[in-house]
Amino acid sequence: MNQDQLKQQVGNKAVDLIHDQMIVGLGTGSTVKYLVEALGEKIKHENLTITGVVTSKATAALAQKCGISLKTVDQVDHIDLTIDGADEISSDYQGIKGGGAALLFEKIVATNSQKNIWIVDQSKLVDKLGKFPLPVEVIPYGSQKIFERFVKEDYQPTFRLTSTGQKKKTDSGNYIIDLHLQQIKHPHQLALKLKRQVGVVEQGLFLDLVNMIIVGTVDGPKIIQA
Ligand code: A5P
Repeated sequence: MNQDQLKQQVGNKAVDLIHDQMIVGLGTGSTVKYLVEALGEKIKHENLTITGVVTSKATAALAQKCGISLKTVDQVDHIDLTIDGADEISSDYQGIKGGGAALLFEKIVATNSQKNIWIVDQSKLVDKLGKFPLPVEVIPYGSQKIFERFVKEDYQPTFRLTSTGQKKKTDSGNYIIDLHLQQIKHPHQLALKLKRQVGVVEQGLFLDLVNMIIVGTVDGPKIIQA
């Protein structure tokens, strides 16, 4: 099974957790794509009433195409569960997200959700976080100054660029600075330190948030209660 098939496997499996009348947070990325497509099919075949709360413009476009009704996080009084991908998950179930630049809305939806489920292929499971570059979303004004501070801290920062070499803009019009840390020994401390910088909007450490992880393996989906 290739990585894409494993992503499809967990996307399809996660749909079993979604029931009629639920309000569901829909993450972003290539794994969530399979979930959204499978959910669209399930809604059609079982004639369900489901409300989706999306985490990016990309997921909104796909969900609409799949016939899923959408509301914003501010239009709902609760979110039953949110299903999202992840870039890295440590052995103590902390995560890095934001490889698709959607970390800000993903974290807003996740922290307003009663339950959070991550769907990943096996390659995302690591002992300690940090091999995957940690995304930090910053407002454009003053972002060079933040970048220089990150250089001084030896965080090995790079601005995320588009395919044409421009600084990538998030759905909120911000920039992403990726930190190439190799290993994050104290994620909670780092998260606080990054958030304290004026101009930092959010950072990609998703700590103490996930309740269940569905991992795609060659032997079928494996469920981890976190
Ligand atoms: C989007 O910003 C990310 O947090 C994604 O959820 C994460 O990058 C996982 O994406 P894939 O499912 O495409 O690997």
